[in-house]
Amino acid sequence: MVADSGPDLAHADHSKEPAVDLTGHVVIVTGSSSGIGEAVARRLATADARIVVNSARSVQAGERLANELGEACYVQGDISDPGTSRALVDAAQDRWGRLDGLVNNAAVTADVPLADIDGVTVDHWNRVLGVNVVGTFLVSQAALPLLRVAEDGWILNITSIAGIRQTGSSLPYAVSKAAVDHLTTLLAKHAGGRVRVNAVAPGLVATPWTETWDRVKEGVTAMAPLERVATPDDIADACVGIIGARYTTGQTLLVDGGLGLVL
Ligand SMILES: NC(=O)c1ccc[n+]([C@@H]2O[C@H](COP(=O)([O-])OP(=O)(O)OC[C@H]3O[C@@H](n4cnc5c(N)ncnc54)[C@H](OP(=O)(O)O)[C@@H]3O)[C@@H](O)[C@H]2O)c1
Repeated sequence: MVADSGPDLAHADHSKEPAVDLTGHVVIVTGSSSGIGEAVARRLATADARIVVNSARSVQAGERLANELGEACYVQGDISDPGTSRALVDAAQDRWGRLDGLVNNAAVTADVPLADIDGVTVDHWNRVLGVNVVGTFLVSQAALPLLRVAEDGWILNITSIAGIRQTGSSLPYAVSKAAVDHLTTLLAKHAGGRVRVNAVAPGLVATPWTETWDRVKEGVTAMAPLERVATPDDIADACVGIIGARYTTGQTLLVDGGLGLVL
């Protein structure tokens, strides 16, 4: 007799399940032309949210996603440019007259291994902190006036296990993600208007960013208690969970298959 091995949780497809009802809500998702941002945008659209899609350079991919989602529009722009934050919020306001949520997902790293302290330059710091910390702040700052008057306004920052454990793709990147976790708590305390501000910190996720990281993926699969790397949909699952958790603010949820327990 073959034993019943139970449901195959690792391969369950949750991508079509709404989990929260966002009917009529308007959400900006920065960096949503690929990877985690795209998966989150798709998931929120299945919950009937209207989406402002964004990317810095991948215009075709961003426009394609916005067309596919239907109730969506695309705004090209680098989030470290103050004009982009204004354009994102204006797109929501001009088209739908409201903004309910913001997913700060766009980020960059530096091409310097974490241990290479001598290789880190001022330009690396300026670029990585400029996008990941200052850019995240600028979009949040521009969005807050509309989020404060929403019935249930929220900001969700995508950070990283690199901001919590001594790991990550570069030193400026890891420091930037720790900074955004702290920004999350400060905005949660001071945003006002009952705007909830939380973060989801992924472990290793299979996206275009990590496409060539085969050895790292093997290592994570061997070490993590859940024995695999994440899919973008795993991160979207956590995002809808925390968006739906209406009495939660100022928190970072580590979504890493337990990797942080063994690092
Ligand atoms: N993949 C992982 O293992 C992992 C782990 C932990 C945390 N994260 C975090 O998850 C988020 C998404 O990563 P991902 O793996 O999904 O990456 P990805 O597939 O490379 O997607 C990154 C997205 O961000 C956009 N983007 C990059 N720089 C931008 C900027 N300055 N302004 C606006 N958009 C920008 C990209 O558009 P363009 O192509 O046009 O630049 C793209 O849409 C990031 O915050 C990352 O730090 C990822």
